[in-house]
Amino acid sequence: MPAIVIVGAQWGDEGKGKASDQLGTEVDYVVKFNGGNNAGHTVIVGEEKFALHLLPAGILTPGCTAVIGNGVVVDLEVLFQEKEALEARGVDTSLLRISSNAHIIPSYNKRIDGANERLLGKRKIGTTGRGIGPTYADKMNRIGIRVQDLFDPSILRQKVEGALHQKNNQLASLHSEETFDVDVVTNELLSYAERVRPMLINSSAELNKALDRGLTVVFEAGQAVMLDIDHGTYPYVTSSSTTAAGACTGSGVGPLRLDRVVGVAKAYITRVGEGPFPTELLDDAGDRLREVGGEYGTTTGRPRRCGWYDAVVARYAARINSLTDVVVTKLDVLTGLEEIPVCVAYEIDGERVEDMPENQSDMHHAAPIYEYLPGWSEDISMCRSFEELPANAQAYVLRLEELSGCRISSIGVGPERAQTIVRHTLLD
Ligand code: GDP
Ligand code: IMO
Ligand code: MG
Repeated sequence: MPAIVIVGAQWGDEGKGKASDQLGTEVDYVVKFNGGNNAGHTVIVGEEKFALHLLPAGILTPGCTAVIGNGVVVDLEVLFQEKEALEARGVDTSLLRISSNAHIIPSYNKRIDGANERLLGKRKIGTTGRGIGPTYADKMNRIGIRVQDLFDPSILRQKVEGALHQKNNQLASLHSEETFDVDVVTNELLSYAERVRPMLINSSAELNKALDRGLTVVFEAGQAVMLDIDHGTYPYVTSSSTTAAGACTGSGVGPLRLDRVVGVAKAYITRVGEGPFPTELLDDAGDRLREVGGEYGTTTGRPRRCGWYDAVVARYAARINSLTDVVVTKLDVLTGLEEIPVCVAYEIDGERVEDMPENQSDMHHAAPIYEYLPGWSEDISMCRSFEELPANAQAYVLRLEELSGCRISSIGVGPERAQTIVRHTLLD
């Protein structure tokens, strides 16, 4: 199975890192194609816990080439911090590669991210503050700085000067913030050039060649469909294309080369940051999910908002991404509940709605319509086959499958690599 895309099917933090890691040593390339160090992918290997932000989880797989694609925004300081921290723990990072077309997050965009949020006041997005939005805005505005610019100091300086012309104006007049010096910013960026040089690749050429040779390439998304710039709950979204289509634009591989699209979904749902969330629980049930599920952000440490599984979101994720498979994670977190609500549709202004509303106000008014499924009390963390699961847990998974319109190929019953039930292999 040469080309597999892994995407978030909810609002992020579904366990994409574990799903990617799980594919193991048959994977030749793993590609991050969107976002930056706003992501936080946790992978547990034996006794070791890794929290990856800018680097894809596949970096932990021996012999796998990890690619940062052209669709990613790169904080160079974080790139080397993360790389060196992994090396200090014995991880081989010599196969880390970066597209020369990837955009760089310059220091001024981190300042602007925070300033924009303050300016929005109570309409803030709740960003991770990593400069992601302003850097994608610069890309679209054609004033971005790319990795390849690091290798031509005079062009780099010209581009930084052009960008700062706008940025300093914005910082001083709109935000009353300190401005940036062209030479200081240019020299800071240049200081990374020689360390980046050995990692440079043309991601499109290399990945297409790899696929021609029949190698296995995994595209590991950051964020999720409901945070997608086009298809998410705009404006409460991130600024990149987080969906399967983003795997193409963010790496330079055409859509017909993708063989499988895997959506990762929790057996319930969480969200970090602001924005509508129909099944959100603001009571003890939400606190229970947060505590049992350890729902605190990997990147910012913020408590995640928690709610019941939302099949409207699941069907939407299947449609937008052409999902072929779903990986359901954290089924173990539901153990001990007497009954488990599952949202099957929304009620919006008195009407039953089965599909994701297009209109922002409708989404804000959406109330969940629940179906109640019986729970189970047996510990499932040691189950390794579907048949070993208690009957009610099996029925829960089968009902999610039916409601979501896509087969559930794998079920997570704990955070560790082995704590997974595989119903259909993703690699055939
Ligand atoms: P990602 O951003 O999609 O990679 O997800 P995160 O790593 O931010 O959050 C998922 C969290 O759930 C991590 O702490 C994982 O270790 C953990 N996790 C993943 N799968 C399971 C599972 O099946 N059961 C439990 N209990 N935890 C899981
Ligand atoms: P992973 O890959 C969950 C959210 C932020 C905020 C919004 C915009 O771990 O699933 P940004 O800094 O991207 O401009 O913030 O998006 N967000 C995430 N939420 N998981 C993530 O990544 C996220 N990356 C960004 O909380 O609401
Ligand atoms: Mg995460």
